[in-house]
Amino acid sequence: MRVLVTGGAGYIGSVVTEELVNDGHEVIVYDNLIKGHRGAVVEGARLVEGDLLDAGTLRQTLTEHRVEAVIHMAAHSLVGESSENPSKYYHNNVVAGLVLLDTMLECDVKRIVFSSTAATYGEPESQPIYETAPNNPTNPYGESKLAFEKAMHWYERAYGLKYVSLRYFNAAGASEKCGEDHDPESHIIPIALQAAAGKRSHVEIYGDDYPTPDGTCLRDYIHVIDLARAHILALKSSSQSAIYNLGCGGDGYSVREVIDTAQRVTGKEITVRMGPRRAGDPAVLIASSDKIRSELGWQPRYQDLQVIVDSAWRWMQSHPNGYR
Ligand SMILES: NC(=O)c1ccc[n+]([C@@H]2O[C@H](COP(=O)([O-])OP(=O)(O)OC[C@H]3O[C@@H](n4cnc5c(N)ncnc54)[C@H](O)[C@@H]3O)[C@@H](O)[C@H]2O)c1
Repeated sequence: MRVLVTGGAGYIGSVVTEELVNDGHEVIVYDNLIKGHRGAVVEGARLVEGDLLDAGTLRQTLTEHRVEAVIHMAAHSLVGESSENPSKYYHNNVVAGLVLLDTMLECDVKRIVFSSTAATYGEPESQPIYETAPNNPTNPYGESKLAFEKAMHWYERAYGLKYVSLRYFNAAGASEKCGEDHDPESHIIPIALQAAAGKRSHVEIYGDDYPTPDGTCLRDYIHVIDLARAHILALKSSSQSAIYNLGCGGDGYSVREVIDTAQRVTGKEITVRMGPRRAGDPAVLIASSDKIRSELGWQPRYQDLQVIVDSAWRWMQSHPNGYR
């Protein structure tokens, strides 16, 4: 297939692009590089430097490359920032997303796989979280992703758009070539590894008085390669439009377990500082991935936290300055 990957120079997008190229697809990465990196675009894929709001460049790219499907990953995704600056999030995640949908329709491209998030659920009452759980986002980031999902639903009814929305839990780990290089970094695994590498003084834990076995929050981590494989299944799926959770399920891992694993993998001591809870951080966020397993046949291969952390550490060692 000829696939346009928006945000393909970012962390997850680069691995999705890599897997698509390995699978023999023709990939065009569309990224404005505000957060992405030119060096993250793997050999075999083309990079078009452009913004989603630039309908002209989008149109030209879709037609010139005869794109058949879009994987839409470009977005802003910092939860805290979204509460301070909701306008930025609505503009990039909703308004710019609509420019993409409208341009796709103009060019007769009617297939889209979307990077959604567990943040659409907010603070769910029961675990694991099924796709049928109520949507109650607690921040503009989750709200903006939900708004885009709803737009796709109505575009399907009116214009025959076919979509698969993948609600990711915590993406983590790296491939040999592509890894996580965010500035600022907000994810616990790279933060812990940066502390192990002496690039930051410590790791802060936000609350150890949660009703969990060790008092720290439990989260569901999914290896970025397993996540990428799910996109390829979604692209090929011939079923109806759908929403799927993407996490590994199980019991998840606590923040302390992540830090302990990072110490074990790196062989370095990591300084931990206890901080207060953050508003809107649920004690437990674990996905049920039953639906995507049974409908698309998705099977995670790298569920073990040690394997995930080890892959991230190896990438960090082979890229000490990230993509710079
Ligand atoms: N990382 C996670 O754990 C996680 C969890 C849930 C959902 N997601 C979603 O997955 C997607 C990818 O996440 P990531 O961690 O790889 O983020 P990232 O910031 O590394 O990648 C996003 C990419 O989109 C590009 N971009 C942003 N706005 C753009 C625009 N208007 N036009 C063109 N390009 C633009 C950026 O330059 C960047 O390369 C995002 O949509 C995010 O909301 C990520």
